[in-house]
Formats: sequence, C-alpha cells, structure tokens
Amino acid sequence: MKNQINKIKELALKEISKARNLADLEKLRVKYLGRKSELTNVLRGVKDLSKNERKEVGEMANKLRGEIESGIKNQELRIKELEFSGIEEKEKIDVTYPGRKIQKGHLHPLTQVRYEIEEIFKSMGFLTVEGREVEDEFHNFDALNIPKNHPARDLWDTFWLKDGNLLRTHTSPMQVRFMKENKPPFRIIIPGRVFRYEASDATHESNFYHVEGLMVDKKEKITVANLKSTIACFMKNLFGEKTKLRLRPSYFPFVEPGFESDVTCPYCGGKGCRICKGTGWIELGGSGMVNQKVFTSVGFPEDKYEGFAFGFGLDRIAMIKYGVDDVRLFYGGDLRFLEQF
Ligand code: PHE
Repeated sequence: MKNQINKIKELALKEISKARNLADLEKLRVKYLGRKSELTNVLRGVKDLSKNERKEVGEMANKLRGEIESGIKNQELRIKELEFSGIEEKEKIDVTYPGRKIQKGHLHPLTQVRYEIEEIFKSMGFLTVEGREVEDEFHNFDALNIPKNHPARDLWDTFWLKDGNLLRTHTSPMQVRFMKENKPPFRIIIPGRVFRYEASDATHESNFYHVEGLMVDKKEKITVANLKSTIACFMKNLFGEKTKLRLRPSYFPFVEPGFESDVTCPYCGGKGCRICKGTGWIELGGSGMVNQKVFTSVGFPEDKYEGFAFGFGLDRIAMIKYGVDDVRLFYGGDLRFLEQF
C-alpha cells in the first residue's frame, strides 16, 4: 500500500508539473483526485486495514492528497503566468506610430462645381430649383417655341421614350414649369442632368449637365444689360476677376435676341493656348432675352414682362476650371482621376 502511494505520488507530481494548459491540468485533477482515482480507492480501502497500518497509510494518503491539490494549484498559477509572460512583447503597441489614415470619400468634381455655382448665384439672390429628367414634348419643345416639324428641333438630338415622353435635351423645360407656378419677379437657376442622342468624344457625352438661369420682372426693369452683368459677375466669381465676357449673336427659339456666351480663357488670359484651341475664348452656352412666345405659352400676358435666360454646360465649366481635356473622364469612375479633386 505504501509503495502504491509512493508510486502515485511520483507519477502524479511529475505529470502535473508537465501540464501546459488548464484543460490538461483539469484532466489530471480528475485522474488523481476524482472519485474513480487510484488514491480515492486507496483511501476507501483504509478502513479494512489493521489499526496500526490504518493510521500510517491513512496519514500518507491524506498527505498525498494535499500535496497533489497544492501541486495542481501551483501549476495553475505557473500556467497563467506563462500565458501572460511575453504578452508585452506580443501585443506591443507603439503609441508614437503615426495613425493609419481613414480613407474618406468626397464629392464628385461635377457636384463640387455645381455647388460652387449654386453658391455664387445664391449670393446674387437666385433660387435653385430642379426639373425632371423625363420630360414631355410640350415642355421640352412646344412651350419653348419649338413646334413639331420645325427645323429648330434638329438642334437637339433627342432620346425618345416608347410612351412618347423623352429624356430632356436641356434644362429649359423647367423654365416653363416654374413660370406656370410662379408670378414674376423671380430669379432662378436650374442645375441638372440632360441627355442627347450623340456619340461620345472628348467634348461630347450623351449624358451631361446644364445650369439654366432665368430672371423675369416687369418689362421696364430688365434689359440685356442685366443679362450681361449677371453672367459676367458669375464668370468672374468662378474663373477670376480678369475674366471677360463676350456675347455673339445666335439663335435659340425661346430667346430673342439670342447669344452665344464666351469667356476669356482663364489659362492664357485670352492669348490663345491648348485649352482654348488657340482662340483665347471658350464657349459656355446660350443666353438671351426670353421670347414673348414663351411667356404667352405659360399664360403670362404679352409684353408685360421681360426676362433673360441662359443655359451653360456644367461639364464644360468643370473642364475649364480643372483643366480637364476629356469630358469622358468625369463619367469613367476611375479613382486615379477622381482622387485628384
Ligand atoms: N437650352 C439651350 C441649349 O440647350 C441653352 C439656352 C438656355 C439658350 C437659355 C438660351 C437661353 O443649348
């Protein structure tokens, strides 16, 4: 019996000292102290021994029990210590290390330019309104003095929808919608997406953006001078104080007289360069005094009001502002391009 106890002791203490994790240690506890363990068995047999032996063996077995218990406890501490030793090396944090930058998105360059334009016009008292991208023939053409079969319709290559509606070819239809709802005086701009049925190249896309402007008041209050000073003020704000505006006679059925509006190239200041193709001028879009026929089509009395309107290419403005020479870059979604803004 004593031999047996000594053997258990030797084996148990050796195995316990080798345990490397708490799960193994728990297994050993069951093995050496559990109800079915050898030691428990020995203790159970003690009562059958002679009186002398009973005392001696009983003491030995109980002592071993205590030794095994404390052995396990000590090993448990050692295992926990081991787990944490080296943790400062393993989980070292260098608080002086520069932080990792969180990648933030930003507004698309066209949206940035649009907001900038809205701010400029807001400072001049213009309200920003939006129209609809799917329009009907009446608002896109007829109400703007472009009747069916009139050759002026050929100025706009239109995407027709199967239901007879169309994708608006310009933001001008919103002039009509706004005037049907509001009486002069007012000044608005209408930024928005427009569509033309044309092949895309460096300066053309079938989907692009316009900024329309419309200011209407009593007849004696508005002249071409207002048109010119408003557009010039806008251009100077956008491209710099030195920018000059030039109006050339042009034709749009919904204005009379109508103009093509050019600005001096902000890159060469009008001397001629790659951006302005050597001319010193960059064309931004149409403008003119609202044709009285448009007023009557929205139910205004003839000759009571006067107004001016303009429609500029927002993409064109962005191209000039950022020196971008291919409009398709704005729609390509290439991050190498977009991240430059
Ligand atoms: N809507 C015209 C276009 O599509 C531009 C324009 C707007 C011209 C307002 C004159 C007045 O080209």
